[in-house]
Parts: sequence; structure tokens; C-alpha cells
Amino acid sequence: MNSYVNMGVGAFLGTVFVLMSVSIASEGIFHSEAPEKEGFAIVAEEGTADAGAGAQEAAEVDIKPLLLKADAAAGETVFKKCASCHTVDKGGANKVGPNLWGLVDRPIASHEGFSYSAGMKTFAEGGKVVWDYDHLSFFIEAPKKHVPGTAMGFAGVKKPDERANLIAYLREHADTPVALPDASASSAEAAPAPAAEGAAEKPAEGQQAPGAAPATEAKPAEGQAAPEGQPAPAQ
Ligand code: HEC
Repeated sequence: MNSYVNMGVGAFLGTVFVLMSVSIASEGIFHSEAPEKEGFAIVAEEGTADAGAGAQEAAEVDIKPLLLKADAAAGETVFKKCASCHTVDKGGANKVGPNLWGLVDRPIASHEGFSYSAGMKTFAEGGKVVWDYDHLSFFIEAPKKHVPGTAMGFAGVKKPDERANLIAYLREHADTPVALPDASASSAEAAPAPAAEGAAEKPAEGQQAPGAAPATEAKPAEGQAAPEGQPAPAQ
């Protein structure tokens, strides 16, 4: 009989030993899983960082070159987003927002009979700043972000080409439409005119292709672009 009891106890202890081993082993498995998840989280963060960089680039687009090829007729369609709050015809009424006739180069926050927000008045710096192409593009891209405290409840027109078409449309709604940005008014095209053609071409290329290690070429180009700069770098 004793030997049967011993065998039974032995079998029981053996089973317990196996169960404990399995439990220890499975803990090991769970521990090894956790770091794997962290690894995935890092991959996801990389994706987000890329998107953020893209958004920043979008905000810094120079609108002037785009205006030269903008389509005012297409801008009329974009203006439908604005028409619930703005008229654009001559002598049109102020609605939720002010009438936009003659907007380009009009002093900011200056339309008669409209009560502007404090945020917009601050942006206008007491009427010194006008709605030139850069200010318009900047404001329309993200009104609340770029003019803190503005009363204009509008998300913004994010696509640079849509913004250019819209501004071209607004530009035409004036007694005397303001000149389109001159090639020389835009920093990208500012360089060549006065310099000898051969000398001017290289820096211009450097500016247009910023991906190709432009650091050394870009500096002389800036020197040339500065209006009062000496012609020295071109010689
Ligand atoms: C929901 C109504 C609304 C919509 C939509 C809207 N605006 Fe406005 N807008 C306003 C208000 C309100 C103001 C006055 C802002 C202030 O005082 O802060 C304003 C001001 C402006 C100004 C400044 C005018 C000045 O006299 O200084 C411009 C430019 C402008 N809007 C352009 C646009 C354009 C372009 C669109 C369409 C893409 C648009 N707005 C869409 C309500 C609107």
C-alpha cells in the first residue's frame, strides 16, 4: 500500500512541477511581448512627424509665383465659401463680414461701417498694414491661427493654388486692379535682371532647386537679390 501512496504523491508533485514550469515560461512570454508593442509605437510616431513637416511647408508657400498663373474664374468658385458672409461687388453691403470690393492693397480693418474685432485691429497695426498678396494669403490660409482673436469664423483655404485663384478673383473686383506681383517683387525671381546673364543664371538655379545642397550657392544669390547690395558678387 505504502508504495502506491508514494507513487501517487510522486505523480502529484510531478504535475505541480510541470504546471509551475509552464506558468514561469508563459510569464517570460508576456514579458517579451511588451517591448514589441513599444517598437510599433515608435513606427507610428515617425509617420506623424512626416505629416507635421508637410503641414509646416504648406504654411510657408510663397503665393506670388502662383498668382502669376492663377485662374480668376476658378477663384469665383472658391469664393462661394466666402459669399455667405461677404459681398464683393462695388458698394455691396457688409454682412457678417465686411464688403471686399477693392480689397487688394486696402488698409486692413478699414471698411466703412464695419466693426472689426480687437484681434483684427491689432493685426492692422493702426491701419499701417494693407492687404497685400502676402498678408491675404497668410490670413486666408488659417484665419484664426494667423490673426488671433479674429471674428472670422472660417477654417481657411489650405491649398495654395486655390488660394491663388481666389486672390486673383478678389483682385479683379476693384476700380483699378492692383498689378500682379512683378517677377522682381518675388524673392524667388528677384536676382537676375541687372546682372550679366551668364553670371545671373547660376544663383537662380540654386534657388529654384533647394534640394541640391544649395548652401554655398544660396548665399551669393541672396547678396545679389538685396536691392542695395553692391554688384560685387556678380563680378
Ligand atoms: C462665417 C463668416 C465668414 C466667412 C465664411 C468668411 N469670412 Fe471673411 N470675415 C468675416 C468676419 C466676421 C470678418 C471680420 C473679422 C474681424 O473683425 O476680426 C471677416 C474679415 C475678412 C477680411 C478682412 C477685411 C478687412 O476689411 O480688413 C478678409 C480679407 C476676409 N474676411 C476674406 C474672406 C475670404 C476670402 C473668405 C472665403 C475664403 C472669407 N473671408 C470667409 C466672416 C467670414
